[in-house]
Amino acid sequence: MTATKGLEGVIATQSSISSIIDDQLTYVGYRIDDLAENSSFEEVIYLLWNLKLPTESQLNELKEDLVKNMDVPEGVIDHLRSYDLSSVHPMAALRSVVSILGLYDEEADVVEKDANMRKAIRLQAKMSTVVAAFARIRQGKDPVKPKKDLGFAANFLYMLNGEEAEDIEIEAMNKALVLHADHELNASTFTARVCVATLSDMYSGVTAAIGALKGPLHGGANERVMKMLTEIGEEDNAIPYIKDALAKKEKIMGMGHRVYRKGDPRAKHLKKMSKELTKLTGQEKWYNMSVKIEDYIKKDKGLPANVDFYSASVYHSMGIEHDLFTPIFAVSRVSGWIAHILEQYDNNRLIRPRAEYIGPNTQEYVSIENRK
Ligand SMILES: CC(C)(COP(=O)(O)OP(=O)(O)OC[C@H]1O[C@@H](n2cnc3c(N)ncnc32)[C@H](O)[C@@H]1OP(=O)(O)O)[C@@H](O)C(=O)NCCC(=O)NCCS
Repeated sequence: MTATKGLEGVIATQSSISSIIDDQLTYVGYRIDDLAENSSFEEVIYLLWNLKLPTESQLNELKEDLVKNMDVPEGVIDHLRSYDLSSVHPMAALRSVVSILGLYDEEADVVEKDANMRKAIRLQAKMSTVVAAFARIRQGKDPVKPKKDLGFAANFLYMLNGEEAEDIEIEAMNKALVLHADHELNASTFTARVCVATLSDMYSGVTAAIGALKGPLHGGANERVMKMLTEIGEEDNAIPYIKDALAKKEKIMGMGHRVYRKGDPRAKHLKKMSKELTKLTGQEKWYNMSVKIEDYIKKDKGLPANVDFYSASVYHSMGIEHDLFTPIFAVSRVSGWIAHILEQYDNNRLIRPRAEYIGPNTQEYVSIENRK
C-alpha cells in the first residue's frame, strides 16, 4: 500500500453536482460563465439541490422560504453577545454557532429526505444572518432583521450594513455567491461528506466543513490576500514584496490550485468586478497591484490566480471587513456542502480509507520502570 500525499488525483466518489474538466467548471452541466452572467444565487441553490434549474414558481417559493427562515433564535444572538468578539475570528464563531443552531432544531437528528430539505433551507438562510449579526454586534450595533422583499444577496448586505445596498453591490455579491457555491470535491466538501457518511446529521457535516474552509490553504486565503495587499501598500512595492516572499519560500495567497493548471475560470469574473468596483470607489491601486502580482506569479511560477485572489479587492471595495471574507465564502459554499450531503445520504457508504504505516516495526512493551 502506497499513500498519495494530499490524495492528489484520487477519485474518491461519483457525483452529479459539479465538474472540473479541462479547466472548465460546471454546476450540473451548466457552465460557470453562463451562471455567473445570468443567474441569481437562489437559482444556483435550487440547481445544486435538485439537479435542475427551477421554474419561476419554484424559484419564487425557494426565495420566500429562504427569507422566512433567516431569523435566528434569540438564544444564538445572546450567545454571540456573551463573547468578546474583538478577539474571536468570525469563522470560529460561525463554526460554533452552526453547531448551536443544531441544538435549536428539533429535526437535527432526523436523517430523512423531507427533514433534510427543511434543514437545508434553515441552514442556508440562517448562516447569512449569523455572519451579519456577528459583524454588527462586534461594532456595538444591534442585528438587523431581513426584509421580505429582498433577494438573498441584497438581504445579506442589508443585514450587514443596516441599509439597502446599491445595485452594483448587490450584483457583485450575487455573482460572488454564485461563483463560490460549489467546487467538486474540494477539502471542505470532502470533509462534509466524510462526516455524514457515518450517518451523522447535516449540522455536524456543515460544522465540520466550516472548520476545513477556515484554513489558509482553502477558504481562509481570501482574507490573507487582502492582508498581503495591505502590507504591500503601494503598487511599486508589489513585485519586490513578492520576490522577497518567494525567496523565503512563502506561499502567495490566492495563487495556485490543486486541479486547475491553465487558470481558474471563476477568477476572471472576480477580476472584472474588482476592476469596476475599485474604479468606482477610487481605490484602483488594489486592482492594479493585484494584476501586477498575478502576471508576475504566472510568468515566474506558472501558477494561475484562483477564486480567492480578486475576491479580496472586490469585498474590500464594498467596505466589507477583511475577516468576513471567508465567512461570506461559507455563506455561499454551504449550498454546495448541502448538495453533497444530500447526494452522500442518497447513495451512502462509510468513507474509511487506509493509511500506509511508516512507524516502527512491532516492538515489545516495556514497563514504565524499565524505560530509559
Ligand atoms: C491551492 C494550493 C493549496 C494547492 O496546493 P498543492 O496542489 O498541494 O500544491 P503544492 O503546495 O504541493 O505546490 C506545488 C508547487 O507549487 C508551489 N506553489 C503552489 N502554490 C503556491 C503559491 N501560492 N505561492 C508560491 N508557490 C506556490 C509550491 O511551493 C510547490 O513548489 P515546489 O514543487 O517547488 O515545492 C496551493 O497552491 C496554495 O497553497 N496556494 C495558496 C493558498 C490559496 O490560495 N488557497 C486557495 C485555493 S482555492
